[in-house]
Amino acid sequence: MKKSRASVRLGIVGLGNMGTYHARQVLHGAVPGCVLAAVCDTVAGKLGVYPDADAFVDSNAMIRSGKIDAVLIATPHYSHTPIGIAALRAGLHVLVEKPIAAHKADAIKLLAAHQSKKQIFAAMFNQRTDPVFQRVRSLVRSGELGNILRVQWTITDWFRSQAYYDSGDWRATWAGEGGGVLLNQCVHNLDIFQWIFGLPSKVRALCRFGRHHDIEVEDDVSAIVEFANGATGVLVTSTGEAPGVNRLEISGDLGRLTCEQRKLTFVRNETGTAAHLRTTREAYQPPATWQVNIPVPESCENQHLAVLGNFIRAILHGEELIAPAKEGLNSLELINGIQLASFKDRTVEIPISAAEYAAFLRDRIASSRIQKKTRPYRGAPGNYLSL
Ligand SMILES: NC(=O)c1ccc[n+]([C@@H]2O[C@H](COP(=O)([O-])OP(=O)(O)OC[C@H]3O[C@@H](n4cnc5c(N)ncnc54)[C@H](O)[C@@H]3O)[C@@H](O)[C@H]2O)c1
Repeated sequence: MKKSRASVRLGIVGLGNMGTYHARQVLHGAVPGCVLAAVCDTVAGKLGVYPDADAFVDSNAMIRSGKIDAVLIATPHYSHTPIGIAALRAGLHVLVEKPIAAHKADAIKLLAAHQSKKQIFAAMFNQRTDPVFQRVRSLVRSGELGNILRVQWTITDWFRSQAYYDSGDWRATWAGEGGGVLLNQCVHNLDIFQWIFGLPSKVRALCRFGRHHDIEVEDDVSAIVEFANGATGVLVTSTGEAPGVNRLEISGDLGRLTCEQRKLTFVRNETGTAAHLRTTREAYQPPATWQVNIPVPESCENQHLAVLGNFIRAILHGEELIAPAKEGLNSLELINGIQLASFKDRTVEIPISAAEYAAFLRDRIASSRIQKKTRPYRGAPGNYLSL
């Protein structure tokens, strides 16, 4: 394991949208205790803009160079596993972009390479730093809503155009990306979902593959989940709907919490519903309620920076991780489970069979007929690049 020093020498693999963004944060001094010691991209032309960092076209060479203590992996999904395994085996600390791997079996292999608690292994689940979700989590987990009955989350504000999908040869293909809206965008929400509610035990789903775009992976999803205690959930997501919404509604025995546009509204029952419906003499009267608008602090200044800073402080000072990489397995359980349930048109138990999903993915790749027409696009995820 690399010894802690005064500052962490970071190497970034993958200098596309996200890698470039992270590199700029470090270069601008936004991450105390971190220096950009090395960069790596298979496209040599992307390396020249970091004159003070050692440049590599091969991630293994960077990992073996002795120039870095930690690696941030910001490459397409399938490569997270081999690059992550090589870095972990070399004793480096690792921060991997979401999803931690392209599918569950790869994630298991990646996590197995993590050697000890002293080796920091984190994932870029930046939405965990959003005070709205932190507040929802604490309300649910502290029992403020009572027994949870149902969760409905509509996340149709992930709009992406055809130009977005055409912008990279790996995007929106089974062989290059490994999935669509679930794996790339909604992985954030599914991580938050499992972080708040835990994992359900069963899922059924309808995924539409290329419903709105000329792509082969899912861009429209409706799923129903069931938890071991009988609570249910409905998850809807799409990259082809506008205007989209992001509305999370949680029904508990003690009331309903709604989260939309950074507003948290709690309609609280004066008595628990289960007790009320058994004891009241009224036929139609639900429990009396009062409404509470729950104050939420402004969004954290920069979510990605918060996770990167936390990773560095975990290495230097032992700070608790916001998103340990091992928790990234749970969103893959949901993503792969939803895809399998839809494709096989049956209920899928969670945890899923990693081998069954890998076989499904191999079939998708083998039967792919997609011809990618890769073109640059305007408006790269701009807010990531505006430092
Ligand atoms: N956390 C977030 O909010 C967020 C947002 C966007 C993307 N991402 C994630 O970041 C990762 C990268 O996405 P992106 O949009 O930056 O992709 P991108 O296509 O813009 O960039 C990927 C880069 O990796 C390079 N690359 C590919 N294979 C490589 C390898 N084996 N070794 C070295 N370099 C390699 C490519 O040349 C390219 O420059 C993905 O996991 C994606 O899901 C996260």
